[in-house]
Amino acid sequence: MYLVRLIYVSKIANGFGADDIEHILDTARTKNKADNITGLLCFGSDIFLQCLEGSRAKVNAAYHRILNDSRHEDIVMLDYQEIIEREFSEWSMGYVPESSLTAPLNLKYSGNNVFDPYKMTGESTQRLLIELKSTIPTIGD
Ligand SMILES: Cc1cc2nc3c(=O)[nH]c(=O)nc-3n(C[C@H](O)[C@H](O)[C@H](O)COP(=O)(O)O)c2cc1C
Repeated sequence: MYLVRLIYVSKIANGFGADDIEHILDTARTKNKADNITGLLCFGSDIFLQCLEGSRAKVNAAYHRILNDSRHEDIVMLDYQEIIEREFSEWSMGYVPESSLTAPLNLKYSGNNVFDPYKMTGESTQRLLIELKSTIPTIGD
């Protein structure tokens, strides 16, 4: 089973509510634990940046379900690669809230200080996600 990492960006769809994040995380964590998928989900400025890592078959299947989810739109894959080891093995789906997506971090990895992964390279999003690991607890996920 080859190990891969997929990173994509999307925007919330019309009608997205505050409760939707909790529901998404509940489903993602339950399904990802069963499928041995790990990763992070960032949410800021109505934009999702998500990283999924695991076996190629399971990550591809999860991404297909995610593509068909009407709670978000404008889904763009930013990076997909075979990897030697996981970066996010502590989280079935760690959550990074808007408060952690600070202006200095955005400035470090993109052209300005606003969180907008549509304007970032796949590699920059990967580096940003790795740096964000230190901001999230491992317990509770
Ligand atoms: C932003 C976002 C992130 C999601 N992340 C995951 C995830 O990591 N794993 C997962 O199985 N489903 C995730 N989902 C939920 C899927 O889109 C889908 O609703 C869920 O897997 C159930 O699919 P099913 O109803 O076809 O069984 C996510 C949905 C959204 C909108």
